[in-house]
Amino acid sequence: MDDYRHPAPTILVIFGGAGDLTWRKLAPALYNLDVDGWLPDKFAVIGVDGKSMTEEEFRAHLREGVSEFSRRGKPDDASWDRIAGRLSFICADFSDQRAYSLLKQQLAACEKEWQVRAEHVFYLAVPPVVFPMIVQGLGKAGLAEDREHARIVIEKPFGHDLASARALTETLTPVYRESQIYRIDHYLGKETVQNILAFRFANAVFEPVWNRRYIDHVQITVGEKVGVEHRGGYYEKAGALRDMVQNHLLQLMCMVAMEPMVSFQADEIRSKKADVLHAIRPIPRDDVFSYAVRGQYGAGWMQGEHVVAYRVEPGVAPDSPAETFAALKLFVDNWRWQDVPFYLRTGKRLPVRVSEVSIQFLPVPHKSFPSATTMNWQANRLVLRIQPEEGILLRFEAKQPGPSMRLSPVDMEMTYCRTFKSDPPEAYETLLLDVMRGDATLFMRADQVEAAWSVITPVLEAWQAVPPVDFPNYPAGAWGPEDAEALIARDGRSWVVPTVLTDEEEAKGEVKQT
Ligand code: BG6
Repeated sequence: MDDYRHPAPTILVIFGGAGDLTWRKLAPALYNLDVDGWLPDKFAVIGVDGKSMTEEEFRAHLREGVSEFSRRGKPDDASWDRIAGRLSFICADFSDQRAYSLLKQQLAACEKEWQVRAEHVFYLAVPPVVFPMIVQGLGKAGLAEDREHARIVIEKPFGHDLASARALTETLTPVYRESQIYRIDHYLGKETVQNILAFRFANAVFEPVWNRRYIDHVQITVGEKVGVEHRGGYYEKAGALRDMVQNHLLQLMCMVAMEPMVSFQADEIRSKKADVLHAIRPIPRDDVFSYAVRGQYGAGWMQGEHVVAYRVEPGVAPDSPAETFAALKLFVDNWRWQDVPFYLRTGKRLPVRVSEVSIQFLPVPHKSFPSATTMNWQANRLVLRIQPEEGILLRFEAKQPGPSMRLSPVDMEMTYCRTFKSDPPEAYETLLLDVMRGDATLFMRADQVEAAWSVITPVLEAWQAVPPVDFPNYPAGAWGPEDAEALIARDGRSWVVPTVLTDEEEAKGEVKQT
């Protein structure tokens, strides 16, 4: 995460170059990196895909992706032409060893022309079933041997349980060393997720209260308005727990709960995060349903439009047991966090798209004000808003103006776009740049992935053993099933209403109420 270092000459090879991820995420990210001047002068992208396409078609396809998904909108001709000149395409069958030899020749030709040894980044933007085949192919072609300059990037899912995650690592490591493997969890590339470290460890005032003596509990909410979209086939096997909790939500939790790092080194930070995962109290196998709640959306109304139930989405079984909502209660067994609950929830077809971490502080030990002055008293709350309206909000009590003493909660708010007058880069911009620089701080190490699978294993097993009988159990547009409310209400607490407005509230000109 050294912000000032430009990458060395790089050749980025994207397996799945004609696929969805490249189109939606990688091409827009590369375009924006280029416009912002981050790409090295000597830089090339080689798309490799089984789909037959000419080089011209490949470029036109990526331009379309950039126009649709780039934070900058449609590219103008001059800026597009600059990056288009660096794009080439190989149509190849991943099982054919000749493809890897051809690729090797192309890399060598490029380096000969540049007269420099380039970084080789192999990005697997393909379904996990083909990972082993590609890794073997690259290995046999000798494209993994240069430990310093060859890197491989893989996308989640990293397995579908602990055993398969281990098996995946075992197929990678005979060819690539762990230091060459970059496992992407795109949440870690989000600006505000990285800012959790800055907020906690670059300021002296928060750290002394960041513990069980001052914090009552922590909530992490990642809500999505969208349904499963076109990904029914994948989601049927994944569900919200595997798709979101095992990776994104647990990573957010690690950032909030980790101990201060001694230095800003990739492995130091990753180890501190792994410590959190190892300290999570195992969910009791005989009591999983007191700690975990699952849900599936039924039909409902969102922004005045009728949306269908999960079970009638394309690629989804009419009696699907896949959960589109998951909520968990976790504890971290260490000196800092003993007995402080972390409540995590995520779901599709929730009322708003929002990701935020809410740190709920304990009430003051003694209320010295007369009770009439403190009717609306709320303990302090700090909200780290990951998206949208990226920022930080601190709620505290203040005296209302007037001759008598009346207290009410007020918010102090910092938003990125107002403070820094610019939109944060997309996660994939940060992550691609870091891979090119060889900085693994924001990527998942094998042990972190395995520890995260261990945390959710009891839940996966219990949910598989006891199929849900009440699905669908929340209508689209609601905050998940009733049981999710009960999960937290049993502890005398309630979910915090996220600090972003729903579209309806925004249209009515309402203001934030948390
Ligand atoms: C992905 C999940 O990892 O994250 C998707 O597979 C989910 O199901 C997405 O929609 C959410 O990412 P973001 O950046 O839109 O919050």
